[in-house]
Amino acid sequence: MQKIIILDFGSQTTQLIGRRVRELDTFCEILPYNKYPEDDSDVIGVILSGSPFSVHDKDAFQVDLTRFVGRLPVLAICYGAQYIANVGGGVVEKAEHREYGRAHLKWCDMENVIFKNIPHNSQVWMSHGDTITSLPDNYRCIASTDNVKYAAYCSEKQPIWAVQFHPEVFHSVDGTQLLRNFVVDICGSNQNWSAASFIETTISNIRQQIGDDRVILGLSGGVDSSVVAVLLNKAIGNQLTCIFVDHGMLRKNEFNDVMKDYQGLGLNVIGVDASDKFFSDLKGVSDPEQKRKIIGRDFIEVFNSEAKKIKDARWLAQGTIYPDRIESLNITGKVIKSHHNVGGLPEEMHLKLCEPLSWLFKDEVRRVGRQLGMPEHLITRHPFPGPGLAVRILGDITKEKVTILQEADDIFIKALRSYTVKLSGEDARRVLAAGVPAKMSDGMIDVSLYDQTWQAGAILLSTVRSVGVMGDERTYEHPVALRAVTSSDAMTADWAHLPYDFLAKVSNAIINKVKGVNRVCYDISSKPPATIEWE
Ligand code: XMP
Repeated sequence: MQKIIILDFGSQTTQLIGRRVRELDTFCEILPYNKYPEDDSDVIGVILSGSPFSVHDKDAFQVDLTRFVGRLPVLAICYGAQYIANVGGGVVEKAEHREYGRAHLKWCDMENVIFKNIPHNSQVWMSHGDTITSLPDNYRCIASTDNVKYAAYCSEKQPIWAVQFHPEVFHSVDGTQLLRNFVVDICGSNQNWSAASFIETTISNIRQQIGDDRVILGLSGGVDSSVVAVLLNKAIGNQLTCIFVDHGMLRKNEFNDVMKDYQGLGLNVIGVDASDKFFSDLKGVSDPEQKRKIIGRDFIEVFNSEAKKIKDARWLAQGTIYPDRIESLNITGKVIKSHHNVGGLPEEMHLKLCEPLSWLFKDEVRRVGRQLGMPEHLITRHPFPGPGLAVRILGDITKEKVTILQEADDIFIKALRSYTVKLSGEDARRVLAAGVPAKMSDGMIDVSLYDQTWQAGAILLSTVRSVGVMGDERTYEHPVALRAVTSSDAMTADWAHLPYDFLAKVSNAIINKVKGVNRVCYDISSKPPATIEWE
């Protein structure tokens, strides 16, 4: 299959480049800067990403350009552009001021194929501390901005284009067109990467890979594992057994609701209520990482003992998706929290791994789910952490605290689902592009706050108490924090700007209806520096 390779130099927007390329129905792979594949027979072009580093840093990332330059078209972005200029004998210097924000392109070469269908003065987004002050021989400038002389350049001899701005970000208005010009016109993508083609090829690959073996799959209620289950069910039917473990810290009624959904999809699912084991092992534990470790271990134990009952199981299927892999391949090598499927395979099970979604982004998984005819509420379900409400209760965990939090969370989530807002213009376009199922009428769409947010939930601050007054009574209870974020992949996130009247209603409902809570706060931290979950 044709693919574009994106070499990652650690920029925060590398994943976005990947998404944009996929939006052009072209398969792409993001690889660490030094992991260009040995066999690149199906590669049609290479993109070099930006980086937090300067090309002059002692430890600046180096790439062996000889592997592809001259043979394949190259688009170098930001650091990539400076890197090519620097190694080719050009000059890259510290800019007097960090160049950050909007700028407008002035063409030096209107006819260049990379600028096809992009108007003069097009707005682009700059974010760099160094700047190119002289180009290597055999390269020429093709666009400037008021502050940046070599905003874009190309080689006279080889298929290399370089831009110091970021075409992948939303604020580069014609950035997608520029990427289209590179991927389709220059690299010659045949644009046949789609949900339907993915399903067809994946089903046939799964049949080949699995043969007559049996497969087990841990379901979580989330979209990723659910889509894997439906795909595998289509491919191998009853050779698949799914296991759904209730650790007691799911959302209100979630276990029963999700079991019904799964049975409705015709899946062969075993539901296991292991909540007593989890509560007993978590008793008195309040350290976040310890909680996570205990839950992870218990989960494996429960899963293992169920899996052993399935004779001849040789495969473990997982809903690992591409950002999980990229996070674990992270070139900085730092672990922030112990989570994600990768590496969680219980070794003594001796099972081989089947991860059919490991090349997809979340919105692509959703597209595949829709194409498979899965119900919309399963597909648009917010992500939910494996350890569940345990990482949303500060301090130790008890059944009573979980019940309090389930009630508060249920009020919040139901309210998010029922409150709709009208969007138009750019806002509507952005929401539709993210795959939200809304219909446009008179240039407007109605979207629920739930569908506009990436993820939301309540957190019980059970280590904190504050004074309140209910009727004539003094109260001394716990606060609940509400968290709702917008994001495209959970690697970065912003707090959702929920309407005040909505927050007021939810706060009132929680304080009035949930015994044990007398105060509601709204979390307005972005990631970074915060994380989405509190623990
Ligand atoms: P953080 O809190 O790291 O979360 O910003 C990023 C995303 O990952 C989810 N998350 C988890 N998912 N097991 C999971 O399957 C976990 O242990 C886990 N911890 C966090 C989180 O809900 C968010 O979507």
